[in-house]
Amino acid sequence: MRVLVTGGAGFIGSHIAEQLASEGHEVIIYDDFSTGSMDNVKHIASMGNVKVVKGDILDLATLMHAMEGCDAVSHQAAQLEIGSAIKDPVTDARINIEGTINVLEAAVKRNVKKVVYASSAGVYGEAVRLPQDEEHPKKPSWPYGVSKYAGELYCLQYSQFYGIKTCALRYGIVYGEREWFGRVLTMFIKRVVLEKKPPVIFGDGNQTRDFIYVKDVVELHNILLEGDYGRDFEAYNVGSGVATPIKDLAELVIELSGNALEPLYENPPEGGYSSITGRWRIPKELRNLQLDVSKASRETGWKPRTGLREGVEREIEWVKANRERWNVKERV
Ligand SMILES: NC(=O)c1ccc[n+]([C@@H]2O[C@H](COP(=O)([O-])OP(=O)(O)OC[C@H]3O[C@@H](n4cnc5c(N)ncnc54)[C@H](O)[C@@H]3O)[C@@H](O)[C@H]2O)c1
Repeated sequence: MRVLVTGGAGFIGSHIAEQLASEGHEVIIYDDFSTGSMDNVKHIASMGNVKVVKGDILDLATLMHAMEGCDAVSHQAAQLEIGSAIKDPVTDARINIEGTINVLEAAVKRNVKKVVYASSAGVYGEAVRLPQDEEHPKKPSWPYGVSKYAGELYCLQYSQFYGIKTCALRYGIVYGEREWFGRVLTMFIKRVVLEKKPPVIFGDGNQTRDFIYVKDVVELHNILLEGDYGRDFEAYNVGSGVATPIKDLAELVIELSGNALEPLYENPPEGGYSSITGRWRIPKELRNLQLDVSKASRETGWKPRTGLREGVEREIEWVKANRERWNVKERV
């Protein structure tokens, strides 16, 4: 197949592009390099079947040109910073909604048969039941969840009107090699492993998150991209199904670091800053996130294979060899 991956120079997109290319597919990485980088893809960019195109998903003409002859599109490009979305919901909506419409529009005009769309568990908002299945109420806590959900609804529209197959993957917290710096696991790893300082936990540490290793995400993504899924649009949760308390995550990172440290607890107000790390605390932080992934397992046979310990070990190994990648301003 010839597959265009929007956001292919980003964290998840680069793993998707790498796996598709290694299976022999022709891959076009389409990215504006706003948060993505050549560091993520230089090891595959020289492969004969990979092409990198610098372009914006808001530029329909360039997008259509790049999509010429494609069989499928993986749409990973997005504005995904929750803080930026709160401060500037219009820009968030433009990139995530208008950008997604452009991707779908170009796909129809280029006779592409399948679009797999990167959605987010952020479409649900605070959990009213656990684990959250795909029918869970959609009451996003932030504009980012609204724009991601709107993207799904446009996928549905394009399936209904044009017969293009579309699947949305509602990712939990994806982690692994090449993760960008800014979220809780990266904060813990940077402080504990690289700086030998105690991790700082907001609140009581009993808040839970569903962490899913990036290569497990790619496996399900590629099953959906290559197989006969999404005739009438389908959404799938992509998580481990495991609710990990943040204090357990901190303990795991400490243990793997081999450094004898005790976590620090702090309770900055919503929208306030940590006095220890300077980190911003997002408003409406979720109490729990645990995804029910039985739909994806039932329909595709997929199962997450990588346990949190093994995946975090791999991320730590990667960052130890690539310290400079996290010498950046944190993304919020
Ligand atoms: N990382 C997670 O845990 C997570 C969770 C839920 C959903 N998602 C979704 O997964 C997708 C990938 O996220 P990621 O973590 O790899 O982020 P990332 O920032 O590493 O990747 C996003 C990529 O999109 C590119 N991009 C942004 N705006 C663009 C534009 N206008 N035109 C072209 N390219 C553009 C960026 O340069 C970057 O390479 C996003 O759609 C995000 O909303 C991620």
